[in-house]
Amino acid sequence: MSQQMAKFLKDYQAPDFNITHISLNFNLEAAATRVSARSRVLRSGEHGAPLVLDGDDLTLISVRLNGQPAEFSQAQGQLSIATALNEFELEIVTQLDPAANSSLEGLYMSDGAYCTQCEAEGFRRITYFLDRPDVLARYDVRIEADKQLFPFLLSNGNLMDTGDLAEGRHYACWQDPFPKPAYLFALVAGDFDLLEDEFVTRSQRPVKLQVFVDKGNLHKADHAMASLKKSMAWDESRFGLEYDLDIYMIVAVDFFNMGAMENKGLNIFNTKYVLADKMTATDEDYHGIESVVGHEYFHNWTGNRVTCRDWFQLSLKEGLTVFRDQEFSSDLGSRAVNRIHAIKVIKNQQFAEDSGPMAHPIRPESVIEMNNFYTVTVYNKGAEVIRMLHTLLGEAAFQAGMKCYFERHDGQAVTCDDFVQAMQDASGVDLSQFRLWYSQAGTPVVTVSDSFDATSGRYSLKITQQPSSSVNADAGQPLHIPFALELLDAQGRSLVNRVLDVKESQQSFEFEGLTQAPVPSLLQDFSAPVKLNYDFSIEQLVHLLRFASSEVARWEASVSLVSQAIWHNVAQLQRHGSMLLDPRVAEAFRGAILDADLDPALLAEILSLPSASALIEQAESVELDALALAREFVLDTLAVACEDELLARYREQASLDCAAARALKNACLGWLSRVSPVHEALVLSQFNTADNMTDALGALQAANGAELDCRDELMAAFEAKWHDTPLVMDKWFALQATQNVPEVIDRIKALTQHPGFSFSNPNRVRSLIGSFAAANTYQFHRMDAKGYEFITDCLVELNSLNPQVAARIITPLIQLGKFDSARQASMRACLQRLLALPDLSKDLFEKVSKALA
Ligand code: TRP
Ligand code: ZN
Repeated sequence: MSQQMAKFLKDYQAPDFNITHISLNFNLEAAATRVSARSRVLRSGEHGAPLVLDGDDLTLISVRLNGQPAEFSQAQGQLSIATALNEFELEIVTQLDPAANSSLEGLYMSDGAYCTQCEAEGFRRITYFLDRPDVLARYDVRIEADKQLFPFLLSNGNLMDTGDLAEGRHYACWQDPFPKPAYLFALVAGDFDLLEDEFVTRSQRPVKLQVFVDKGNLHKADHAMASLKKSMAWDESRFGLEYDLDIYMIVAVDFFNMGAMENKGLNIFNTKYVLADKMTATDEDYHGIESVVGHEYFHNWTGNRVTCRDWFQLSLKEGLTVFRDQEFSSDLGSRAVNRIHAIKVIKNQQFAEDSGPMAHPIRPESVIEMNNFYTVTVYNKGAEVIRMLHTLLGEAAFQAGMKCYFERHDGQAVTCDDFVQAMQDASGVDLSQFRLWYSQAGTPVVTVSDSFDATSGRYSLKITQQPSSSVNADAGQPLHIPFALELLDAQGRSLVNRVLDVKESQQSFEFEGLTQAPVPSLLQDFSAPVKLNYDFSIEQLVHLLRFASSEVARWEASVSLVSQAIWHNVAQLQRHGSMLLDPRVAEAFRGAILDADLDPALLAEILSLPSASALIEQAESVELDALALAREFVLDTLAVACEDELLARYREQASLDCAAARALKNACLGWLSRVSPVHEALVLSQFNTADNMTDALGALQAANGAELDCRDELMAAFEAKWHDTPLVMDKWFALQATQNVPEVIDRIKALTQHPGFSFSNPNRVRSLIGSFAAANTYQFHRMDAKGYEFITDCLVELNSLNPQVAARIITPLIQLGKFDSARQASMRACLQRLLALPDLSKDLFEKVSKALA
């Protein structure tokens, strides 16, 4: 069954027909919107095949070919029109029910406004069309709606005409001069507050900038606007890329399946990535807004001007655009902290995907539901692959490659191979082996062993790579791995700092002229997305934490120190039933906390200890109860050992007003609240005097995480204050869902009846339901299976309401391979229950069937 439903990259064929122009006319009515689509259709090549158009959940009203009623047939949603003509005009009228569209794909309503989401295959829910990214058409759009309810009528490109109509209606006409695939089409109609500004491009063209937000939120749009202007300036200065239309619009909607969407000239955003003021948004939220606004803006060149030939090539635009938004954040803020965040996504989430049933290469080879492939592999590992290219080529040759890519492919729909070819041709670097990164699934393991010969002063490194065990076409072939290495002497001085080209299954590197064995910093800054296998001693890690010249490497050493200590205690517990923390670990942390030269933001990262799910990811198999005990023991022991230093840093940072200071202060507070109830007073006073959301939430997190006596009282106060602000309530729902107490499931069930909660709003679902599954590891994986069963009940509901969101929430339930057999059996039983659903969506089917296979 799965094989039948799947589509394969190897089966790609160019379309039989092309559509070069489409005129769309929308008559907007909540339950009965009429869409007329007039397309210019051209046969491609010589063949007699019928025109087959995609459609999904549409009511067909009429089909006319060159003005005459046309003959057609319908099967599996598709509309087939047999004709001998090579060129013709097709007019199709469909009727939609946007008010009933809870999937949030196609045309739907969000808080009374009409909006669209067409990526990946949502345009076929609007009209019958060649809904594939290699069909590029020019769009003319006319929108008609009630003027009072929907004063703003928006679409892609330039506004050509507006006017009033009878019965209180009005219209607007838009024209997009750039041919585009259907997934970049957008329409919005509604009443908003509007923030306007202007950006003058470096060739002196003025661009009107508009941010549309729900009424009453105008004061929360400033940061998004500032981020947009920074993005436009940065893309000019770093990539030499300028904006190409006279207007750039961003609309914020609360009902949205993902973060945001790069529709040409009319980005549609989740409110989470637009609205911010300091009382309601954390520093992290501010950073998220800047990076998502940047991401969508950068798509204008990497995605829109040059787009994907087919959806298997998704990483062509997403991996590259994530790389670009990461560079944007790093150029504007702390490069080390941004790198740490990116590394965490790969190690904690992408490695888990790679070792689970949904493992796929960054360019997948088979897909059942495309929405399931907007993954950390395609996006974030995709960005790591681009980063490796950047490392291998250097900035200048990389930019030459980008220039070549745009010169060759502007206005085209192309493949990942086309991109790599441009990079190779412009740089002269042979990338034939490098291309394997696009086709190999799974995480390669790189094992390093070293030796030092005191008489000759020679240090040798042996590096071996094993491709991941998951099966794929190129399994077994070694990859081209840029392996960054630093060697430190006993005084912490840097002796060697370079990138090794690892290309073979086994390779040796020698370093001469050393007087003592150096301490190696391996795969520095995570120079390739692989698992590193090297037996670091505690002394070596302590040395790296103190002396590595890379801040990222210092952070990595701290993570390894704590992780090793936890795994060591898991083993101790199983063998001797007792636990112990090596005093050198606590000593190293005390040293870091006191290190005045360390950037406070970096120290905050060092103090953000590995989550239970991050630890699970490091192991082949896991005894969850022992892991929980060992983790809590190590963290508590560390906190007690560092109490005085933490308190001193907390007090010192408390007087400073910047994001890095707040991050460090809140990290210290989290540790201190573990130590003793004495510090509850700090939590209370921070909560009560906070003049920003970062501090208020920091205190609430500390109270929630350590189960302080004041926890319930603070949660109630927070709710009383913010019950009318949905994005803030999302933070509250997420805290409720991650409480590590046995009653949490009953509490979450009760909260699904909370007036602020709704199963039809993805932001609410992700906060309350998603956080429980993904972040409340101990309770989700309870031995009595109540966690699995509760999530399964939610998935049954979401399967019919919003399959895309259901398929995201299910992730921790399908990653079952590392757990004990009792837990695996419980998880399987839940998956079987889902598989038996009569109306199981393709989205869930693909994941559930792969997990059970
Ligand atoms: N292209 C969007 C981005 O990365 C992703 C996206 C937004 C999306 N909405 C979606 C993907 C809905 C699939 C379905 O910026
Ligand atoms: Zn994107």
